[in-house]
Amino acid sequence: MAAYVVNRINRMSQTADKIIKTGNLEERLEIDSSWDDLSSLSFVFNHMLDTIEDSVNNIKSVTDSIAHDLRTPLSRLRNTLEKIDDPQLREETTQEADNLLNMFNSLLRISGIETTKQKEGFTQCELNAIALDVIELYQPLAEERDIHLSSELAPIVMQADPNLLFQAIANILDNAIKYSKDGGRVEMELSETTTHITIAVRDNGIGVSEEDIVNLDRRFYRADRSRTSKGNGLGLSLVSAIIKLHNGQLWFVHDPLMQGHGLGVVCSLRK
Ligand SMILES: Nc1ncnc2c1ncn2[C@@H]1O[C@H](COP(=O)(O)OP(=O)(O)O)[C@@H](O)[C@H]1O
Ligand SMILES: [Mg+2]
Repeated sequence: MAAYVVNRINRMSQTADKIIKTGNLEERLEIDSSWDDLSSLSFVFNHMLDTIEDSVNNIKSVTDSIAHDLRTPLSRLRNTLEKIDDPQLREETTQEADNLLNMFNSLLRISGIETTKQKEGFTQCELNAIALDVIELYQPLAEERDIHLSSELAPIVMQADPNLLFQAIANILDNAIKYSKDGGRVEMELSETTTHITIAVRDNGIGVSEEDIVNLDRRFYRADRSRTSKGNGLGLSLVSAIIKLHNGQLWFVHDPLMQGHGLGVVCSLRK
């Protein structure tokens, strides 16, 4: 009898643990046919999950409609701004409007990736070729600032969405270069074990503080020391959504090149 109860409690705690780790609010506790205290606890717990899931979905849909519905008036406003005679003022205001439009588009893109369950863009692709394309895209920018960009890419074939992975790697590399000092170092490494594929990008740039490191993939989050660079704080939220779609996890590491500063970004994808 005791073993039976312990077993049921263990299963309940495993489900709760899974919900916390994956953030998947669709999970529910199984309800035993015997109408005892544990079943009624599961019932209450599931009811609580129903309510939380509803609220989260509501918030998501309100946020999405705001982003969606504000795009049209903003585009109209932008077109009106183009009629300003003063060229400098015209340039500045349309630029701001473009930034806002980009933000709304990014928000909707992130939300779209988070809510798709089907992996329709997935095909067999060469991860090293995608990573190399990103490096080639950023090489001129790195050279301009005398940043040494190096890579070690193992040949890796996997089921993935190549366009999304390109965007994820590009966002990470963009940050590594943007938040590096001139003459700095950026390294990309692609490797695999029997169970995981790892994409790691490290730099010896300005890095982030202990308090900031846990918040980096939150929407709009920008650490104080990077406020002077251009950006909207949505890049890593997009990366995080893409990595989750690929059954992966995103980690941030302090001082990855052991030079007292800089940031490492590690994506670990389960095979
Ligand atoms: N390689 C890096 N070095 C230092 N800080 C970084 C790095 N990558 C990201 N960050 C920090 O994380 C924040 C969020 O990154 P991101 O979502 O790409 O936004 P953005 O680049 O638009 O500011 C950045 O504003 C910056 O504070
Ligand atoms: Mg960025």
